[in-house]
Amino acid sequence: MYTYDELKNFVDHCGRCPLARTRNRAVMGRGNLRSPVLFIAEGAGRNEDRDGIPFTGQSGQVFDRLLREIGMTREDVYITNIVKCHPPGNRDPKPEEQEACIPYLKYETLLLRPKMIVCLGRVAAQRIIRPDFRITREHGSFLLRKGVWLTAVYHPSAILRDDTKYPETVVDFRAIKKRLM
Ligand code: URA
Repeated sequence: MYTYDELKNFVDHCGRCPLARTRNRAVMGRGNLRSPVLFIAEGAGRNEDRDGIPFTGQSGQVFDRLLREIGMTREDVYITNIVKCHPPGNRDPKPEEQEACIPYLKYETLLLRPKMIVCLGRVAAQRIIRPDFRITREHGSFLLRKGVWLTAVYHPSAILRDDTKYPETVVDFRAIKKRLM
């Protein structure tokens, strides 16, 4: 077993896919290593690429607001991405980039041993839950896999584009909180 710091060091120096050549900084997940809940988004954004920290931009503010709705902060949770580097132009990470990066996520999951995994958005839900997962229809539904609850909610950036998604996502976050208690 590697330690968390060793894993972070691998991620920081990773060259497993071409994103390594265009990134400024790899973005390791962050948060409470003892959190019962692991949030997984798709890939680092532009601000994250600059700062090396997940969800530091505008979507991060939406995420923080959702956490506040259920009385939580970043210190209570752990958040990471499928792909640790920024896909140029904010495009979806390619399947081969996801494949190259997924061992890091598997290892993060192994170290955290969460009670629940929450996918943020379609890309993460389709990689983690089911390839044909439909976020509009299935967000907020729960599935138990190998003793771990899996669910998905809208990606915070989708809420930024369409704020009518916010109230539904609050409902999903409340259900997450309830299941964690
Ligand atoms: N969007 C993501 O999917 N991940 C981040 O870390 C930031 C924005």
